[in-house]
Amino acid sequence: MSRASLSVVSDSVTVRVPAKVNLHLGVGPLRDDGFHDLVTVFQALSLCDDIRLSPANELRVTTRGEGAADVPADATNLAVRAVNEVARRADRPARVAIDIDKRIPVAGGMAGGSADAAGALVGAAALWGLDIDRDDLTEMAAALGSDVPFALHGGTALGTGRGERLMPILARGEFHWVLAIARSGLSTPAVYGELDRLRESRPDSDIITTRPDELMAALTSGDPRVVAPLLHNDLQPAALSLQPALRRTLRAGVDAGALNGIVSGSGPTCAFLCADETSAVNVAAELSGVGVARAVRTASGPVPGARLLHD
Ligand code: C5P
Repeated sequence: MSRASLSVVSDSVTVRVPAKVNLHLGVGPLRDDGFHDLVTVFQALSLCDDIRLSPANELRVTTRGEGAADVPADATNLAVRAVNEVARRADRPARVAIDIDKRIPVAGGMAGGSADAAGALVGAAALWGLDIDRDDLTEMAAALGSDVPFALHGGTALGTGRGERLMPILARGEFHWVLAIARSGLSTPAVYGELDRLRESRPDSDIITTRPDELMAALTSGDPRVVAPLLHNDLQPAALSLQPALRRTLRAGVDAGALNGIVSGSGPTCAFLCADETSAVNVAAELSGVGVARAVRTASGPVPGARLLHD
């Protein structure tokens, strides 16, 4: 290997970023800016994307792994937008090759695109040796998408506003999840739009966006049996309306032994909370056999947000 290529290899950085699941997702009415006010409890899971940034002659992105063919390779890619944003701020050219190794389902309701944006923010700052403080990074993250600040933050957190305002929540222990990845994705705006439509057709339905205190107390207990019945997602009826087959997936997970199952965020990934790791492995094996999902994965949470890997 030549000296030049060696130096390029050693100059690259890799950032690992987690998927999220919403243990609670309360959706307020549609705002004038097209977003909805949320009250949500996020948990970061051990299903992660790895984002590698290396010096290059121009900005480019390649993706491999889970759903790679559905990830745009142009300027709309959230990781590309994130690198452009850091470059603009640092007043330097964005000459970076971004390689995304995906495990988080694309358009799956697990904030995979947001994870890649968060990874690219942290990666670009590290690659160029920039000293961006946490608040500035969070502000840049929020401008890229509602879930990007949580992908930076990780752990378990209460999200308000568009979901970008975060407060850490104490969660004891480790929670074990099974994720059923659907055959096709759902567009987040389409699911929010479907919720608005369903609400218009039932004007007397209550919109409740109070803080889920019971769930937050349950999380401090660390007992999944106390947490499981409190899982809630206002977007679930909308996701089920757009993909009715998800009802069968949710039933199959509970029949397989999960404590409870919900649609993750805007879906269509279904997340099942299990009593322990052994139970999660058994539920995953049984769900795989039923054939309701394209892929089934186990994951645990909470895990940290975007972090540099040192190899
Ligand atoms: O912020 P992000 O780009 O991830 O949001 C994608 C879309 O999801 C928004 O354009 C909006 O339609 C919907 N959304 C919403 N309310 C939120 C977050 C997202 O309506 N709090």
